[in-house]
Amino acid sequence: MLVTIEGIDGSGKSSLVSSLETLLSDLSPVITREPGSTWVGDQVRRAVAERMDPVTEALLFAADHAAHLSTLVRPSLRSGRLIISDRYSDSRYAYQQETLRGYIPEPLEWLQALHSGWTIRPDLTFLIVLPVEEALSRIGDKRMKEHFENHNLLLRVQEHYLDLAGGDLSRFVIIDGLKEEGEISEFVAGVIRDSFARSRSHHQP
Ligand code: TYD
Repeated sequence: MLVTIEGIDGSGKSSLVSSLETLLSDLSPVITREPGSTWVGDQVRRAVAERMDPVTEALLFAADHAAHLSTLVRPSLRSGRLIISDRYSDSRYAYQQETLRGYIPEPLEWLQALHSGWTIRPDLTFLIVLPVEEALSRIGDKRMKEHFENHNLLLRVQEHYLDLAGGDLSRFVIIDGLKEEGEISEFVAGVIRDSFARSRSHHQP
């Protein structure tokens, strides 16, 4: 079963994923992320840091996704594992929909066509939503900011995320990112546990 965690920078995704690793340790989940750990992922980080043009950047993120699917997601699904990915295709549909505006006439349609036929749809996607001001204050000045981390861009990205969720309510669970961290992780772990148990009982011969 494939579970993805999405949200803008500073939404608390990464700490949620690390709590889930502990709370669900008895299920031995495969914990992963995009951009991933293959050399393609390294090139993506480099392109982001060097402010490559948005089309190059989008194609690199998609290439990283293809490498992620073939090296990890497909084999893990085949062996019946629970996979939890910190960011996945919806990050492209939300972020690159915004960064490609003005470069490509219909960015979302272009991105969806780019993924069509080979991507794998997640079974469950948790979208953490919170005010952009709060997300930015959590990021703070502690580390160098990526160019994605500015107020207007994140505002639009979060709107795109919400539109995606609105169009696919059977897959998305929206999480209030202002809730207490422990409360969020307990809730998400419970939903994953139930869904994983159900998916296993469906797959029993
Ligand atoms: P990441 O290193 O995962 O940072 P974070 O810890 O904030 O999730 O991702 C780096 C940036 O790349 C992040 O600002 C979101 C952006 N991104 C995209 O724009 N498109 C994508 O497809 C992905 C996976 C990430």
